[in-house]
Amino acid sequence: MQEFLPYLLALHGARDWLQAARDCGLTEAELRRAVQHAQREYGQVLVVAGNGHVDFTAAGEELVARARELAGAVDALQRCFAESRRKSVVAPLLQRRSVSPKRLTGPGPDAAEIDLMIEAALHAPDHGSLHPWRVLVFAQEHRARLADLFEQEKLRRDPLAPRSDIERAREHATRSPALLGFVVSPRARVQVPLREQWLAAGAALGNFMNAAHQLGFGGIVLSGERCFDAVLGAELGLASTEWLAGFISLGRIAQAPPQRKPVALDAVRAQWIPGPALAAAELGPRVS
Ligand SMILES: Cc1cc2nc3c(=O)[nH]c(=O)nc-3n(C[C@H](O)[C@H](O)[C@H](O)COP(=O)(O)O)c2cc1C
Repeated sequence: MQEFLPYLLALHGARDWLQAARDCGLTEAELRRAVQHAQREYGQVLVVAGNGHVDFTAAGEELVARARELAGAVDALQRCFAESRRKSVVAPLLQRRSVSPKRLTGPGPDAAEIDLMIEAALHAPDHGSLHPWRVLVFAQEHRARLADLFEQEKLRRDPLAPRSDIERAREHATRSPALLGFVVSPRARVQVPLREQWLAAGAALGNFMNAAHQLGFGGIVLSGERCFDAVLGAELGLASTEWLAGFISLGRIAQAPPQRKPVALDAVRAQWIPGPALAAAELGPRVS
């Protein structure tokens, strides 16, 4: 019976054999046969020929009303399935959280896994495909040397820093199972504005962190004042035109990070409503 319901609904809507048949992708003869079949199965007359249009008997009207309810319920169920499917597709993005180094444990990602994260970063939106960024990988055997550099940077900023602060600075170099630097390298003499290059670098960093999450790693980007230290930058091999955006810590998650506080979409989404045209002279200077 079920397979005939869409035909009956179409006929009820169109009240015309030919139109309903077209709506169902059938010929008129096929639709008539299908309705006759439905009547035989149901054991009652459902449709009668009216004056130029199709009429439904009381039994037909009742069946159509029920079929409509059923179609509504199936529709709602399908929407529910589609919504759930959509959510499951973006779930890895919705579930990512930054994980602080103290919640990470080894092993960190291997070279192939880091390469995959970089591949993901290379697939971020990037005006002009400039990839105005690069990643520094700090191998385990060089982390002690990096800790020395972090210590020296701390002492440059605060020559009287207590030992505990210096140890904390050193720990930033040694604590995480894997440590990388994310460097923004804006390209000179290209038409792509600087701000778009920074945005492209940010998008790449986002892709990198999402790939790490999808590979099962926890991670966090931390900058801190050391990222603004020119001497440390030079010691890490940065050109004077490059910026150390932050250090990426990666590892397996030993302790889950706290839940993210929900943000209402309205905080970041608005419908644009056209207003009156403005003359350029009416605009104040842009705050940059
Ligand atoms: C370039 C960059 C530098 C960051 N530096 C710091 C930092 O120094 N200290 C800090 O607490 N969070 C820093 N963050 C933010 C964290 O990495 C993280 O995104 C934040 O704690 C929010 O957590 P969530 O990613 O789970 O939303 C930085 C983020 C970026 C993109």
